[in-house]
Amino acid sequence: MKNILVTGGCGFIGSNFILYMLEKHKDIKIVNLDKLTYAGNPANLIEIEDNDNYFFVRGDICNEKVILDIFENHNVNTVVHFAAESHVDRSILGPEEFIRTNVFGTFCLLEVCRKFWKDVSDKKFLHVSTDEVYGSLGETGLFTENTSYDPSSPYSASKASSDHIVRSYNRTFGLPINITNCSNNYGPYQFPEKLIPLVIDRIIDKKEIPVYGKGDNVRDWLFVKDHCKAIETVLVNASDGETYNVGGNNEITNIDIVRTLCDLVDEFTKSNNSQNLIKFVKDRPGHDKRYAIDASKIKNELDWSPEYNFKTGIRETVLWYINNRKWVENIKTGDYLKYFEDQYNERL
Ligand code: NAD
Ligand code: DAU
Repeated sequence: MKNILVTGGCGFIGSNFILYMLEKHKDIKIVNLDKLTYAGNPANLIEIEDNDNYFFVRGDICNEKVILDIFENHNVNTVVHFAAESHVDRSILGPEEFIRTNVFGTFCLLEVCRKFWKDVSDKKFLHVSTDEVYGSLGETGLFTENTSYDPSSPYSASKASSDHIVRSYNRTFGLPINITNCSNNYGPYQFPEKLIPLVIDRIIDKKEIPVYGKGDNVRDWLFVKDHCKAIETVLVNASDGETYNVGGNNEITNIDIVRTLCDLVDEFTKSNNSQNLIKFVKDRPGHDKRYAIDASKIKNELDWSPEYNFKTGIRETVLWYINNRKWVENIKTGDYLKYFEDQYNERL
């Protein structure tokens, strides 16, 4: 781990990862390749943009030439691949970009690694993936690394495809890879289309809160900094070819999350009755019922465990969104308003 290419480093998890790594490791160089789609925000990284160990390249992971130039100029020996279209609802409104970036873009990165890394001894391609590749759980059970893939949405199907392609480059070409499949992240810099930042924003604006179906779907929430630490751990300690599930052992129904957020915003802003804003709306098609992760492999083999519990992590998150209203307001313009109308007009 020395010269690291991070893809999608201006997104939610990528930004948190770059900030975490540059703070902790003084002997690494990070090149951030990001197309700056609607979800990419260079403002997230303003505090490190002048750091001598940090380089930003605006570009598309579907463009092999751009990737090759970075490998040549920076002697890349590690890739941490975050870049993706990441929102399930957008993949239902329009799947094409998900197939292009998540499947073809991952293939382009792998091709450059395969061509450039003749000696693979100190190299690693870490593919950051999702628990959604496993599909939906019923009332009981947990996803393990051996659970069969059964994705439901165009987003999760595109991530499942990319996982398979990454694994094939290991088995066929000997490319050194690891894959992480993580549960739902929350924390600072998450784009306000995802449940937690969207709901916080709606409460602050005193607008109706859309809860899909009955609100009884379950997700396993992990604070983003714990995900960053897990990725660091896999980079440093994992054996070639291994996959690790990452999760918070923290299952919560959507309606409980939403009620918690209402109460916290009420507490911090000295308002009340925000729960009255909750509105149950038409469900997401193909909505997975429950996700829950068995993270014992990464705990036992690599000694990783989360540092944040949900109570502290969610308080920190709500406070961050209250104290960074400008960050959110800057996003809520043209494209965002159009997306919001397409997604919620019939629902609200
Ligand atoms: P995000 O949508 O916040 O950020 C994605 C980033 O990728 C943006 O900066 C965007 O500009 C960039 N990007 C998109 N297409 C690109 C392209 N063609 N070329 C270069 N850059 C491009 O996503 P996120 O929530 O930070 O997720 C990051 C990764 O982690 C994704 O691969 C996602 O599947 C995975 N993941 C996310 C979660 C979660 O809860 N958010 C959980 C598990 C795994
Ligand atoms: O599990 C990991 C995945 O978590 C990541 O791979 C994805 O990139 C990330 O977006 C997330 O997917 P989800 O679909 O679970 O996250 P989202 O925040 O969109 O929704 C969380 C739950 O809340 C889900 O059950 C749908 C519900 N929901 C969401 C929105 C946006 C609502 O009820 N209302 C809403 O308006």
